Amino acid sequence: MLEPNFSPFPELTTERLLLRELAISDAPAIQPLRGNIDVMRYINRPLTLTVEDAEKWIGIVVDSLVKNEGITWCICLKEAPLEHIGTIGLWRIEKENYRAEIGYMLAPSLQGKGIMYEAIKKVVDYGFKEMKLHSIEGRIDPRNVASGMLLEKCGFVKEAHFKEAYYMRGSFTDTAVYSILTPYREAINTEEPAMESSAVL
Ligand SMILES: CC(C)(COP(=O)(O)OP(=O)(O)OC[C@H]1O[C@@H](n2cnc3c(N)ncnc32)[C@H](O)[C@@H]1OP(=O)(O)O)[C@@H](O)C(=O)NCCC(=O)NCCS
Repeated sequence: MLEPNFSPFPELTTERLLLRELAISDAPAIQPLRGNIDVMRYINRPLTLTVEDAEKWIGIVVDSLVKNEGITWCICLKEAPLEHIGTIGLWRIEKENYRAEIGYMLAPSLQGKGIMYEAIKKVVDYGFKEMKLHSIEGRIDPRNVASGMLLEKCGFVKEAHFKEAYYMRGSFTDTAVYSILTPYREAINTEEPAMESSAVL
């Protein structure tokens, strides 16, 4: 069984980016992003309308981190390490399947510059190399062409299309599932029994 441990927080860097832990002081920058209907159009979460709501959201993220149930990084440009420009995370961790889901969003003014490509490549490598995941999935609304093409550019493959699988803001929407497998095949101890005997039922 996978046993993720996010303590100490794994800060990551790429050529242009610093991926660091979220702080409560990021709330004023997160609110306009998670409150922006264009950014949130294909994300099945309520809009974050106040800084207090953003603080609550950070609280949920921190709680999940402390319990080793998921991890969210604050994306910053290296030259401005305190300025939140987006988020990326691995969550819905299925410990028994060594699998997790990736999620991400970026400030509109910085989109189209290859930033999320850089962030995803790093986070996926962390997920496989350090967390020992075997697969990572991305679930998107198929109308989110940018996100689908981004995942494919990062090596994800479209594996499924579920019709009207999500109820979002008053209507049923389709979901496409993309996935990528670990290149580090030796990472998992295959001698381990697949399931605890008590879990058979
Ligand atoms: C999707 C999103 C994260 C893309 O981030 P980004 O930093 O602008 O993406 P990148 O510049 O790294 O683009 C990498 C690749 O993604 C694809 N892509 C990105 N934006 C695209 C767009 N508007 N249209 C089509 N393809 C796009 C392209 O394949 C691109 O490669 P290319 O530049 O060689 O053509 C960003 O648009 C976003 O935050 N959207 C709102 C939130 C969201 O939808 N999150 C995902 C929920 S599942």
